[in-house]
Amino acid sequence: MYNILQHFHSGWAYLTLLMGVLFFVLVGFYAINKKQRNNLITKISFFTTLVFHLQLVIGVILYFVSPYAQWTENTMKDPLNRLYAMEHPLMMFAAVVLITVANSKLKKTETVKMAPAILGLLALACVVSRIPWDAWLS
Ligand code: HEM
Ligand code: HEM
Repeated sequence: MYNILQHFHSGWAYLTLLMGVLFFVLVGFYAINKKQRNNLITKISFFTTLVFHLQLVIGVILYFVSPYAQWTENTMKDPLNRLYAMEHPLMMFAAVVLITVANSKLKKTETVKMAPAILGLLALACVVSRIPWDAWLS
């Protein structure tokens, strides 16, 4: 069970990053050019939200079964333990909230505005800053 979830969360992270970048670039492009919201941008936004939400749900389950997310009296003193037990979950949760707000803001206007693009960029910054890069890419 742990193994499957760990692999899923690890692989799905590529899609999460990809959709985050695509969301920011595309919504930013539409906003700069003051384009009307269309089916494409609405669908991209929908799937970005879906991908982030699924990663969140798997992450929360993983949090309770992963040996890396354990709490001891040394958790805050150990940077890696602190990353898994606290910084990663909190910042990723913030990213999911930001993307969700970006998606609902995007859906509310006919002309694409800059706000969802900026929220998308902030979400991406949260994700990139707290990925355990060494463990992920090795
Ligand atoms: C703890 C679990 C979850 C919570 C609390 C949650 C919460 C939310 C909230 C508050 C929204 C915003 C709705 C709005 O904009 O009006 C939303 C949107 C969305 N969620 Fe979740 N969600 C969860 C799990 C999931 C899962 C597992 C999926 C799919 C695999 C998912 C897919 C989506 C999609 C696609 C949207 C965008 C809907 C749209 O644009 O019409 N969510 N979710
Ligand atoms: C939504 C954005 C998220 C992304 C992009 C993401 C990405 C990642 C990545 C790349 C790893 C490293 C996987 C590896 O070592 O191969 C990881 C591990 C982990 N993530 Fe996330 N994550 C997200 C959200 C969350 C959330 C919300 C939680 C918990 C509430 C969470 C809990 C964990 C845990 C516990 C691990 C360690 C798993 C293990 O190796 O035992 N993640 N995450």
